[in-house]
Amino acid sequence: MSKKTVRDIDLKGKKVFVRCDFNVPMDENQNITNNTRIVAALPTIKYLLEQNCKIILASHLGRPKGEFKPEFSLKPVAKELSKLLDKDIIMANDVIGEDATEKAKNLKEGEILLLENVRFHNEETENDPEFSKKLASMAEIFVNDAFGTAHRAHSSTTGIASYLPAVSGFLIEKELKFLGSSVENPERPFVAILGGAKVSDKIGIIDNLLEKVDTLIIGGGMAYTFFKAQGYEVGNSICELDKLELATHLMEKAKEKGVKFLLPIDTKIAKEASEEAESKTVKCTEIPAEWEGFDIGEESIKEFKEEIKNAKTIIWNGPLGLFEVSQFAVGTNEIAKAVAETGATTIIGGGDSISAIKKAGVEDKITHISTGGGASLEFLEGKKLPGIEALMDK
Ligand code: 3PG
Repeated sequence: MSKKTVRDIDLKGKKVFVRCDFNVPMDENQNITNNTRIVAALPTIKYLLEQNCKIILASHLGRPKGEFKPEFSLKPVAKELSKLLDKDIIMANDVIGEDATEKAKNLKEGEILLLENVRFHNEETENDPEFSKKLASMAEIFVNDAFGTAHRAHSSTTGIASYLPAVSGFLIEKELKFLGSSVENPERPFVAILGGAKVSDKIGIIDNLLEKVDTLIIGGGMAYTFFKAQGYEVGNSICELDKLELATHLMEKAKEKGVKFLLPIDTKIAKEASEEAESKTVKCTEIPAEWEGFDIGEESIKEFKEEIKNAKTIIWNGPLGLFEVSQFAVGTNEIAKAVAETGATTIIGGGDSISAIKKAGVEDKITHISTGGGASLEFLEGKKLPGIEALMDK
């Protein structure tokens, strides 16, 4: 990696401002329902503790739009962190107010302070220089470990780096290793599996991955736009009529680049997206009017599994069907299991594919599950992420 990390700088006893992505899902009683992002931040925090740092942690949670709202408080995160580290976490009642600045000033070596949600201030998302300066004034060094927020040019991810020496933590380093190096120099065959409802959400990633992969597997709602672009009727299936030309262009590009472009062969169709709906499997080129495709069929699963079995590197983003409805979750679950069973380097990004992997109970078998949704997508589109660009070069 070309950016400096916590290993490249003397941190002993220093006061360090660490931006994490603690944007975790919670239920209506503020119970954290998935602590993956908190667990992913632990290696950096533990390393800073070993260096006797005074640690100030910052994060956003949700989109409170510049106002204090109790349901967006980071207090539940402080509790979870305390449990995971078996250590007291000092919680600030504000971000740059008297409470936070006083607690930051009095912080001792080996202590951890968690600031309140940085998005309680509009200045955060506006990347306001004065706000960035105030955040920076609390510490001597900035560590960015918020990969999930690295695509946002906000005060606590980017602006603050103008006022402090800025390095990455271990999570950002790891994400870049898998989403960057493994994708740039993959062991081949390199297979990408892309799903999700819309082509428009995945144009950038398809276009960029066509430069790198040997096989591109397309599933999910967006597959029907590719069939429509070839002149087939798709019934009531999701179809972006304004993206037909683009779909044709992507298929032509695949041909030019010698990339095997695999669309599903068959699809499970129904007249409505419900558990009780009557369903049947037909060829993707023979979807009757008034029926809608909700999943890939058995033949597609078989064909996709064959590609997955022979791959050495696999990247997967997006579900292959409407997996929230169990009768249409078969394709996504089967592909999740097949990906987990290969000996390939497997990289999963995107909330829905991660949920599918978890639902199939195979997350332990995946090489890397990205903590970034939008960030991993933008990175795989080949875009530069401002939160990473702002860090010091090696
Ligand atoms: C995410 O969950 O993708 C990140 O935490 C970024 O959140 P945001 O989309 O609200 O900026």
